[in-house]
Amino acid sequence: VPFHLNPDLSDLAAEATRGLQDHFSAKSDFTAAAPGRVNLIGEHIDYCGGLVLPLAIHRYVVICATLNGSSQARIHSATTKETATIDLSSPVEVGEIPWANYLRGVLRGFQNRGHHLPGFDAFIVSSIPHGAGLSSSAALTCALATLLEGLLDTVLPTREKAKLCQQAEHDFAQVPCGIMDPFTCAYAQADHLIYIDCQTEEIERIPFGDPELTFLIANTMVRHQLSDGAYASRRREAEEGLRLLGKNQWQDVTRSEVEERWEELGDPINRRALHIVNEIFRTTLAVSAIHRNSIESLSSLMSASHHSLSDLFEVSCSELDLMVQLARNIGPAGGVLGSRMTGGGFGGSTVTLCEIDKLPDIAASLSRDYKKATGITPQLFASRPAQGAQLIR
Ligand code: GLA
Repeated sequence: VPFHLNPDLSDLAAEATRGLQDHFSAKSDFTAAAPGRVNLIGEHIDYCGGLVLPLAIHRYVVICATLNGSSQARIHSATTKETATIDLSSPVEVGEIPWANYLRGVLRGFQNRGHHLPGFDAFIVSSIPHGAGLSSSAALTCALATLLEGLLDTVLPTREKAKLCQQAEHDFAQVPCGIMDPFTCAYAQADHLIYIDCQTEEIERIPFGDPELTFLIANTMVRHQLSDGAYASRRREAEEGLRLLGKNQWQDVTRSEVEERWEELGDPINRRALHIVNEIFRTTLAVSAIHRNSIESLSSLMSASHHSLSDLFEVSCSELDLMVQLARNIGPAGGVLGSRMTGGGFGGSTVTLCEIDKLPDIAASLSRDYKKATGITPQLFASRPAQGAQLIR
């Protein structure tokens, strides 16, 4: 098979329900699903108050649960086959099992908002490959937050829910992520891109429902060690750059200001700054290209974004560069309309805009050529923009 089909959301929900039954002998009362995402353009600028243009994909974390009458949450993951037991009678703290800390952070977020949490049993399944840069962690936190809305019979304002999830990741998993992933997960709508102004936190949903186009996601299957430390250091460099430029926000910085102060900023801050201002501008251009239906401009913006991430921001790697190059070699004649790395980088996935009828050939060729060059079989699947976090029942 050249590429993997997306498992149906209803099949995942059924799997979670069966898991809850087998593992806890309990019937499911609530099921929540939250999607992964790819970012079309606007990379590594959410934490700079920039503009980003992601979409949710048809890959999900699904949690189903039932109240257990105790003061404990018992949560089992089908992926790691571990159960986290979390005491809810006092403020939840960081504890054992790394993935469970994302959940603890969400539970604490609800407690901090004055909610008394009842004990529950939960079973989690996921079709989002872990470590593939597809935001499996925001999907995990958003799925639990959505489930808790069901259990508590309450609805948080979407922005507050997304911020609670981001905070959980900051405080309980020590990942200084931006708002892009939880906002996408919480706000996404089928057949729309989510245009987020990360400075004002305003969002706009942009229709992207052309039935002839689809996104091909190619997981390189590599994840380089330096990813966490390097992410935090890019954040620091960006803050330092803004300080040296004497500005309050990146959206006020122009390209010529960066160029005029190139020497003063010094390397690598000057290159980081140039990426940030150009990438913010490219995202605005991509939005107008989509409004004009100019796929050609979108395609060159995606290429420029990738090169900038590779050369100036230095968050790509040889495998991502190769995957993007292979897609570009296929080109528009073969149905490839644009390709770039997506997400945090240092491995993970690329996103390629494709003509849907050429998808099988594109996937077969990427898979074959990537394997030939690296010895690694990539994981490929297609998705159109999906719905955000939701209670299924
Ligand atoms: C990770 C972070 C996001 C964003 C991207 C890069 O996915 O979680 O907040 O910074 O990297 O665009």
